[in-house]
Amino acid sequence: METLIRTLTGSREDEAAYREAARIIQSGGLVAFPTETVYGLGGNGLDPTASRKIYEAKGRPSDNPLILHIADISQIPPLVSGIPEAAKALMEHFWPGPLTMILEKAPIVPDETTGGLPTVALRMPSHPAARAFLQAAACPVAAPSANLSGRPSPTNARDVLEDLNGRIPLILDGGESEIGLESTIVDVSGPVPTVLRPGYYSLPRLKEVLGTVAVDPAVFSSLKEGERPKAPGMKYRHYAPKVPLTLVTGEDKARAACICRMARPGKRTAALIASDTLPLYGNASDLLLIPLGSRENDGEIARHLFSALRNLDRLGLDEVYSETFESGPLGEAIMNRLRKAAGFHIINPQETGEDHE
Ligand code: TXA
Ligand code: MG
Repeated sequence: METLIRTLTGSREDEAAYREAARIIQSGGLVAFPTETVYGLGGNGLDPTASRKIYEAKGRPSDNPLILHIADISQIPPLVSGIPEAAKALMEHFWPGPLTMILEKAPIVPDETTGGLPTVALRMPSHPAARAFLQAAACPVAAPSANLSGRPSPTNARDVLEDLNGRIPLILDGGESEIGLESTIVDVSGPVPTVLRPGYYSLPRLKEVLGTVAVDPAVFSSLKEGERPKAPGMKYRHYAPKVPLTLVTGEDKARAACICRMARPGKRTAALIASDTLPLYGNASDLLLIPLGSRENDGEIARHLFSALRNLDRLGLDEVYSETFESGPLGEAIMNRLRKAAGFHIINPQETGEDHE
């Protein structure tokens, strides 16, 4: 199958591309599209065959449920068994935007879309191209991130093409995703709203709106044998570059010194760092420094993280170290992705030995 890319301009000329995308969705095919978080791989979420095609194109296990994307709140009632107060509050404050809610599903949503779960994930994105595409599609669009299973989510059309070329007919190219990390997922199907995946909207922000909010343990740590996370996707190896990645915590100077010690002639070593700490690395000639952005504006770090992780495998490296970025408003979301990318391999040079979180 040939994969076409339609570049969106944000003008009325894009209407032909949206019509073409809608025709593909309505005939059971798949379209990759931009959102404010990451690119999605969309298909008709009420068509079990389309959902099966999504799993096949991504090489994704079919017990990992998909998010239904909608253009308008009026699409929700037929999809769910009821709308709890917490869901109404979240919609009012955060939609359209980078937030996904888990609700009890109605029978019309096929098991193929929810991975057999009795609940369904819903999101109304804010990206104008995503909204125009969803409006044209005129059905709830099931869409995971548009990467091959296990790889970092794509934040531009080139990264989608790298993973899915020949596997899907169309990519809508809306430029770089502004946020760069996937949506915050909040489960509102139980008595206490629970964060299943941290994202742009932080825990304090959610608490302002909801009061009590719990956090699923799978957010912070690797799962033990036999443990089941509430979001099935959290149990899979994610975002991992092929080259081994180690996170280094601790005080800035000690950390930079530790990372510099790891780099030796004859070994190709890189480090993901904040631009603020660049001077601490002196002229470490055996170390490729990759600044992600300033800690003063961790939105910049979030935006660059996935493309930097993808790039690592293009550079022919032997090993990679990364600073940790827990301090800013997006710290929890960034660290959740980085911990997974590193397979939870974290060291602190100020402590002896290694700490497996
Ligand atoms: O920002 C985003 O959410 C992007 C864009 C494309 O909208 N989508 C995305 O989808 O990240 P995906 O499939 O890569 O991640 C969806 C996550 C998975 O971890 C999945 O297990 C969880 O949502 N999920 C989906 N339905 C669920 C449900 N009913 N209950 C619990 N978790 C669910
Ligand atoms: Mg994903």
